[in-house]
Order: sequence, then C-alpha cells, then structure tokens
Amino acid sequence: MKIAIMGAMVEEITPLLEFFGTYETIEHAKNRYYTTSYRGIDLVIAYSKIGKVNASLTASTLIEKFGAQKLLFSGVAGALNPSLKVGDLLVATKLAQHDLDITAFGHPHGYVPEGSVYVETDKALTELAKQVALEQKIPLLEGIIATGDQFICDGVKKEWIHTTFNADATEMEGASVAVVCDALNIPFCVLRAISDAADMDAGFSFDEFLVSSAKESAQFIIAMLDEL
Ligand code: ADE
Repeated sequence: MKIAIMGAMVEEITPLLEFFGTYETIEHAKNRYYTTSYRGIDLVIAYSKIGKVNASLTASTLIEKFGAQKLLFSGVAGALNPSLKVGDLLVATKLAQHDLDITAFGHPHGYVPEGSVYVETDKALTELAKQVALEQKIPLLEGIIATGDQFICDGVKKEWIHTTFNADATEMEGASVAVVCDALNIPFCVLRAISDAADMDAGFSFDEFLVSSAKESAQFIIAMLDEL
C-alpha cells in the first residue's frame, strides 16, 4: 500500500517529515517529493505550494508518477462556521470550488458542464478519522470545504461562501485535489485545522497559528496511519 500525504505549504508537511525522521528526496517538476515508510506503509509526501493549479499538479504527480493509492491532505483553513475556533479540526465530506463561476450561462456557482458542484471524499477514510477522533477524544467536525484561489479575509465574502456552498471552512487547494482524486479513482480525505476566521483579522491570525494548527492536523494524520 502506498499512501500520499500532501500539504500546500512547507509548514503543513514539516511536522510529518520531522516525525518520520528519515526519507528520500526526489526532485520533480519544480517540486520535491519525500518518500519513506511507516509501519509497513510506503509513503510519499509533498507540499504543492499554494493554490488550485499547484495542488492539482502535485496530486496528479503523487498518483500518476509515484503510484499513490490513497491520498490524505493535511493543512489549515479559515473557519466559515461560527462554531469552529482556531485549532479545531474538520474533515471534509465534500468540497466545492467557490471561485468557479459560469453563472452567466445559467449554471450554479462552482459548476462546470460534465462536472459537479461538490466532489465527495472517501467515506471509509472519513469513518477512520471519526474513529481516531473518538479514541483520542479530539473533537472533529465533518463538514463542507469551499476552495478558491483567494485568501478570504473579508466578512462579506466569507458570508457569501458560507451561504452559497453551505461550507464550514475555506482554503485554497482541497477541491482541486478532490477533482484529481475523483477523476483518477483514488480514495482521499481532506483534513484541516482552523488557523483563522476568514475575517478582517484573518491575516494576523493565520500568521500566528499556521504552525500550531498545521501541527494539529499533521499529528491527526499520523494517528490515522496508525489505524490504517
Ligand atoms: N487557509 C487558511 N485560512 C484561509 C483563508 N482565510 N482563506 C483561504 N485559505 C485559507
């Protein structure tokens, strides 16, 4: 079994590389891929750089070049659901692209012909996440993630994404990874720890909590590997 663990920023995979300790580094397509093994599972780890295009390239590479059979995304997100606070964990049930807009042709936000507004994550991986949360007594929300190539730091925009997509959190990669994994038939999950509230203070909050929230998420991913 080969599993990909992916983040968007170096801070999101550093706790993983520190935990696994030894790994091989392979350079490909202006990025670095780290391979190691853990409890008999082959792992390939990478951060994509921010945004949907970079994330799509990395997810595709992890699957098509490195042969990943499942993909776990770990990182941080801005909260849209008011019950989510900094450090809280969310596992996505489905994801949508909030900035995909051909409404001019009568389609709903996030939709392109032959696609769908939402892409669902793998139910078995979500169940695994719920089981780990229960065992470790860590609160875990199951919810909808809305992805776009924008750092959301504005109350009006935040509310629009929240209501249009019924989304609980926003980030900049998940839905594109979902499209890739769905097309290539690879079970995947997207786990995010909250770093900010996607409001006018989001930039400050993100800078303050990126490292600690990224670590929360990475530690949870390691706990999931322990149960795979
Ligand atoms: N990732 C973490 N916080 C975010 C925000 N407010 N907007 C987009 N992506 C994020």
